[in-house]
Amino acid sequence: MSKKIYFGTNLKMYKNIHDTTAYLTELAALTADLSPAEFQLFVIPSYTSLSAASQSINQEHLLLGAQNMCWEEQGQFTGEISPLMLSELELGLVMIGHSERRHIFRETNVDENKKVLATLDHGFTALLCIGETAEEKYYGISDEVLRTQLKVCFHNVSPDQTAHLWVAYEPVWSIGVNGIPASAEYADEKHQVIHQTLHEIFGEAGDSIPVLYGGSVNPGNANELIRLASVDGLFVGRSAWNARDFNILIRNAINARNT
Ligand code: PGA
Repeated sequence: MSKKIYFGTNLKMYKNIHDTTAYLTELAALTADLSPAEFQLFVIPSYTSLSAASQSINQEHLLLGAQNMCWEEQGQFTGEISPLMLSELELGLVMIGHSERRHIFRETNVDENKKVLATLDHGFTALLCIGETAEEKYYGISDEVLRTQLKVCFHNVSPDQTAHLWVAYEPVWSIGVNGIPASAEYADEKHQVIHQTLHEIFGEAGDSIPVLYGGSVNPGNANELIRLASVDGLFVGRSAWNARDFNILIRNAINARNT
């Protein structure tokens, strides 16, 4: 059997409750024939849509995630969402350290480490996002930055918890409307650094952590990226926010991977 491949999207601060559930229902129906043994689909909607979203679809087929989470269970943390609150929604996945959290809201690797540990403690899978800025790339320190992010964010995570870890490599300069997609060659190089670092941190257990590429994935570059052995999946923003377009991107990518 071929290795499982991952396709997911973060809806960021887009789509209201109605639009989110309509999107999820359509996407689940369009992709219903794809085998969950070989294919993992996930969507990360807004907090306010999560409750309705979890009631609208079967998560065995389409996993739902939260965009962020506080490391504390309760307390004087105005505006934060606790792991206990997310547990009530029966979510499988929590995204930690998206570039917009790090760069707009100033979250640090140490913050992300506390969140990763809390995510695992509460039985969720953590999707850790990492990536270098344009400036770090310019100074030739991308590999050091990625290695630092992984080592700090996964500090005190044990090898027996790796089944609950996913990583998304999203170079900051490649994300969003002004982003420039990474070339397949560049993505491959960085994915290899990430796989090697995961091996260094966790030993053999680190080899099975899926590493997804994200940052301006689109119908023009998805096939080339997913053909790389170092890329275990695609984490898509804008090109996934229409269910029909995302379904086509997924199917073309699966065909490209298998041919
Ligand atoms: P994008 O977003 O595909 O729209 O660049 C990617 C992301 O932020 O995960």
